[in-house]
Amino acid sequence: MKLSYEDALFAIPQSELDAHAQLAEAAYQETIKKSGRGNDFLGWVDLPAEVAEQEIVDIENCAAQLAGQSQVVVVVGIGGSYLGARAVIEALQHCFRPMVNEKAPTVLYAGNSMSEDYLHDLLDVLDAKDYSVIVISKSGTTTEPALAFRILKQHCEKKYGVEAARKRIVAVTDRQRGALKTLATQEGYPTFVIPDDVGGRYSVLTPVGLLPIAVAGFSIRDLLKGAKEMREQLMRNDKFANNVAMQYALLRYMLYNKGLKVELMTSFEPKFFYLVEWFKQLFGESEGKEQKGIFPAGAIFSTDLHSLGQYIQEGTRQLFETVLTVEHAHKNVPIPADEKNTDGLNYLQHRSIDEINHIAQKGTCMAHVDGGVPNVKVTIPEINEYYLGELIYFFEMTCAVSGYMLKVNPFDQPGVEAYKRNMFKLLGKPGYEK
Ligand code: PA5
Repeated sequence: MKLSYEDALFAIPQSELDAHAQLAEAAYQETIKKSGRGNDFLGWVDLPAEVAEQEIVDIENCAAQLAGQSQVVVVVGIGGSYLGARAVIEALQHCFRPMVNEKAPTVLYAGNSMSEDYLHDLLDVLDAKDYSVIVISKSGTTTEPALAFRILKQHCEKKYGVEAARKRIVAVTDRQRGALKTLATQEGYPTFVIPDDVGGRYSVLTPVGLLPIAVAGFSIRDLLKGAKEMREQLMRNDKFANNVAMQYALLRYMLYNKGLKVELMTSFEPKFFYLVEWFKQLFGESEGKEQKGIFPAGAIFSTDLHSLGQYIQEGTRQLFETVLTVEHAHKNVPIPADEKNTDGLNYLQHRSIDEINHIAQKGTCMAHVDGGVPNVKVTIPEINEYYLGELIYFFEMTCAVSGYMLKVNPFDQPGVEAYKRNMFKLLGKPGYEK
């Protein structure tokens, strides 16, 4: 993974970054020494180096069992208990996964909305498919996944019988607390533990992410290897000058202080749609508090060049852009010859689609820089488990360092409670009447 930011230096000269390097270094030390706010949630820092071989084997075995008995596996969860797995799976799988036959089951998702139509349609699908369920909730009490799980549990029990359903449901939850833990114990579901010191949005490298990713047929060992090697690279370099997480964090912080309050994460790779969603959740919940924080937004190009593109180029100047770039596509689609050339595309004939996509990216970045949008690039050579592991750890570290520079606790989310209180009161949940 490479970080490059020469196209942001017109907004923040390198000398200004160097002059503030100490800010990033101090925040980084707070993170790795676990001395800052929320330090009981810093388990993710050492996680990639510490996941036990037995846990990996247990996850792989469970995934193989679920895959063996299911055409579909439904992952029930929301926020950090959902987005990391989906980000990795969607980046790696066939773009039209439900339409193609693959050995691994199709992973579908529930519990991230309360759309009745969505649940109804999901049940329609599950009526006709063999399926299993992975239910994920650290607190074990989040309404959206709990509601979806109640419905899926009963559907599964009706379809397979109570005893057989118990072999089709796996819980990923807290070691001892919460309604899901109690339910899993009562029903005897196989259960994986989310470590106490890892919060939801930093949990993709725990069973929260690893189990669904393994079920989808991808190598969790390579994912962990990428994260581990990124961790080692960062740990070896504890100075701003050679630590990419510190560099990205400081750059973001300085741009924010210059009035650029929105970071637009973009990619010319549609498979990264959910990686961008994961980034938005990680940074939004970690930084956005105490009336501070960069607003994390996302766009997929070329699609959004024909919607948000106008705003990015000429709208209110409050943006900087981070482009997630992939150097090489895995597949090739030749551009066919056409003697008539009515569409005027013959001039592209000897180029690959991937090359054209990269040139579009270059042209777009040049235009955005001309329009006053600082541009940062995060580049990986190709999409695979290893580089996704690197990216995950890199963004997690950047996020923690960014939060500490902003002087907020990057590991809590007190603001999420506000909507829940109102919803519970409006629903008449016992205890919330007043
Ligand atoms: O990052 C977080 O902590 C949150 O987004 C949680 O993951 C989300 O609220 C779901 O919580 P839980 O796993 O307790 O159901």
